Amino acid sequence: MKKWHMGLIFVFTLWTWCNALAAEGPIILKFSHVVAKETPKGKAAEKFRELAEKYTQNKVKVEVYPNSQLFKDKEELEALQMGTVQMLAPSLAKFGPLGVKEFEVFDLPYLFDDYQQLHKITQGPVGQLMLSKLSDKGILGLAYWDNGFKQMSANKPLKEPNDLMGLKMRIQSSKVLDAEMRALGANPQVMAFSEVYQALQTGVVDGTENPMSNFYTQKMHEVQKYVTLSNHGYLGYAVVVNKAFWEGLPGEIRGQLAQAMTEATDYANQIAKQENDQALEAVQKTGKTEIISLTPEQRRAWKQALVKVHQEMASRIGGGLIQSIYIAAEFDPGKL
Ligand code: LMR
Repeated sequence: MKKWHMGLIFVFTLWTWCNALAAEGPIILKFSHVVAKETPKGKAAEKFRELAEKYTQNKVKVEVYPNSQLFKDKEELEALQMGTVQMLAPSLAKFGPLGVKEFEVFDLPYLFDDYQQLHKITQGPVGQLMLSKLSDKGILGLAYWDNGFKQMSANKPLKEPNDLMGLKMRIQSSKVLDAEMRALGANPQVMAFSEVYQALQTGVVDGTENPMSNFYTQKMHEVQKYVTLSNHGYLGYAVVVNKAFWEGLPGEIRGQLAQAMTEATDYANQIAKQENDQALEAVQKTGKTEIISLTPEQRRAWKQALVKVHQEMASRIGGGLIQSIYIAAEFDPGKL
């Protein structure tokens, strides 16, 4: 065959191949979440989008849907299992209804003093083992993203644990959070995140708990007069993907997305504390919500009121898991 002829065939093959690729278009990855764009999770989701599109040279297009635009809490997990969306980052407190109760261990009151202690779990073997439990449910756990430590809010000052007596408090779906509120004498009410502002405004609930980044970006300061800096528990996320989607990706693309996820995770965990500190300042500036700091005695009283939740929940979460977390995080329950 003549050289020019061979060249023509090569060009023609390349042209056909490019057309085929163009016709197929990019792979669409829908990432749904329930918080505002300007939160640690919202920003990390955007970072993942940017890196994923860059590393795959736009072979993957990531569509991020914040603020429960697409799905609310419970629906988003169902949508992920059905493949309607491909990626989520629900809080660790929301996996119970899926049948994975182990993540509720992160809700145990006063289990972690700070982010460093928490990272011994989320960045260590116990955390990895927990993520692997999701694979039976048709989803894969890729990473943990931090938010932060929760503060308690209401329209009355909450200084002593029994100040919560009889209050209707919104919680996420975790049974540990239910036990936590009951230990304080409050009436817990499970509710989707997207409904909290209105429920506080109309008095359907009296108060709630959340890190300041969520409190501020949902404008809860407009409808809550007091926030107590109780730091009584942690709220963070597991980033999860639909298993069939992830395993069906071409290996090279999966590797590029995994790299984007590693970097987005570092970013999420770097900004979380600062975002929450800034949100606290912003709430203070609004002048609408009074910020209450606990005295050492008051903090001790909160801890004493809440420590029993660890034992109460052992049969649900697994005593062995709780012990392995105590050991890995160097937590001493006797010190509470
Ligand atoms: C909540 O429902 O309070 C949180 O889980 C929202 C979130 O995703 O941070």
